[in-house]
Amino acid sequence: MAGSGACGSAHTSPVHINRQQPPSIFTNTDGQKVALITGVTGQDGSYLAEFLLKKSYKVHGVIRRSSSFNTHRVEHLYEHPNFRMHYGDLTDSMNMCQLLSTIKPDEIYNLGAMSHVKVSFDMSEYTADVDGVGVLRLLNAIRSCGLERTCKFYQASTSELYGKVREIPQKETTPFYPRSPYAVAKQFAFWSLVNYREAFGMHLSNGILFNHESPRRGATFVTRKITRAVAAIHRGTQSQLELGNIDAKRDWGHAKDYVEGMWMILQQEAADDFVLATGETHSVREFVEKAFLEVGITIKWRGEAVNEVGYDSADDNRVLVKINPKYYRPTEVDLLIGDPSKAKKGIRMAGKNVFLRSRQGNGGGRHQTSRLRQFYTVLKTHTALCRAGFDKLIVPNDCILAELFVSRVSKTDRKSWRAARVLRDIRAAPVRVV
Ligand code: NAP
Ligand code: GDD
Repeated sequence: MAGSGACGSAHTSPVHINRQQPPSIFTNTDGQKVALITGVTGQDGSYLAEFLLKKSYKVHGVIRRSSSFNTHRVEHLYEHPNFRMHYGDLTDSMNMCQLLSTIKPDEIYNLGAMSHVKVSFDMSEYTADVDGVGVLRLLNAIRSCGLERTCKFYQASTSELYGKVREIPQKETTPFYPRSPYAVAKQFAFWSLVNYREAFGMHLSNGILFNHESPRRGATFVTRKITRAVAAIHRGTQSQLELGNIDAKRDWGHAKDYVEGMWMILQQEAADDFVLATGETHSVREFVEKAFLEVGITIKWRGEAVNEVGYDSADDNRVLVKINPKYYRPTEVDLLIGDPSKAKKGIRMAGKNVFLRSRQGNGGGRHQTSRLRQFYTVLKTHTALCRAGFDKLIVPNDCILAELFVSRVSKTDRKSWRAARVLRDIRAAPVRVV
């Protein structure tokens, strides 16, 4: 029953959707599992909501109040009878308490965060409040509402914790060395979980996730920034791409694989911490080269450090990539590569790296040809949609988007694959550029 814990019987107002649903459908009285997702409007939150709804969960999402729309990734779920959103913020303890006492979730996925590493240097105190103390607020809310024996909790921990890496590859036992206010805040959160798990026997698990990307990735993260720029350069609407440290290396997986991993982590009998990674790493520079190759441009480099430029090998004067120190971070994380052995064994998680394959790459042969054919089908469809005036709704000619999607198509699915499925994903992709 709502309100039995110390938080009282406070009532929370759901966002304007599903008003016709009686509140009872969203309580776990009928054996259906109930999940609460903070950060449901983000890349991972939106995929996780879809994943849990398919598993017949009742899904509650927390949406931040904003004067502009921030729901583009979840709008397609509005009509789902088992999906509901509530206004909330990780900086507001009472709000968290009210939500938990009303919803009484079986599982909480805490994905809400100020998630941009560079921005965390500009907004360090806010980042600490949301990404660090915000987690403690939620943990305390679970206890205050008397849910510590029934509610499992997933925390979105991060490979950024390894920062200036002490070991290659990084695994669960690798010491942390955070290199940004974001990572420091996430370290506070990580250890808060471990402490409450040991102190109060709560089911609290950290997923230490390496970078994961998708068509829904925010446009200021490097993969989307590059692929959007390459697509725009290809279409002639942009002339150059400006980047910071192109020698940083990352272990890039697909967000859809990783949200499944989050769920698997919470299905464990005993709470534990897991690295989710692909075990493969690539530099931003390589990523740039492969992305341009997808539109038929071979990038060559000349100059050094801030004076280095990437130019079109077919035209020495056509500089396409420039370094802008404004994108440098005060302290950088140079190399991330995860060792997912524990997850592979413990939760049977297998993530695939989503790094772009080049036309001339090693992966050639019939398989590669078929992937490329699909890729070009997608590009053509994008172009058609742009002409039809959809360019405000979609991210046109987004190379990685196409490639990522194609990489999700299994051999058996391949024959029945349709561009429409890609387009559905594109439509749900973000279009804001900050
Ligand atoms: P994202 O797209 O930036 O989404 C972040 C979400 O948090 C958004 O829904 C955002 O709301 C919400 N949020 C921000 N501030 C909040 C606050 N004060 N209270 C409540 N919600 C708030 O991030 P993501 O890539 O999906 O990542 C999800 C989580 O995993 C984050 O915690 C991130 O730090 C962590 N993580 C991500 C990766 C990765 O590679 N993607 C790797 C490791 C860990 P708005 O939509 O209103 O902004
Ligand atoms: N964003 C951005 N923009 N990054 C750039 C740029 C640029 O113009 N130029 C070079 N980079 C480099 C960054 O310095 C970094 O080394 C790398 O590209 C990746 O940057 P992001 O895509 O912004 O991701 P991140 O690795 O800093 O952080 C992401 O992954 C973490 C997990 O390792 C975020 O999703 C974090 O929330 C997450 O915890």
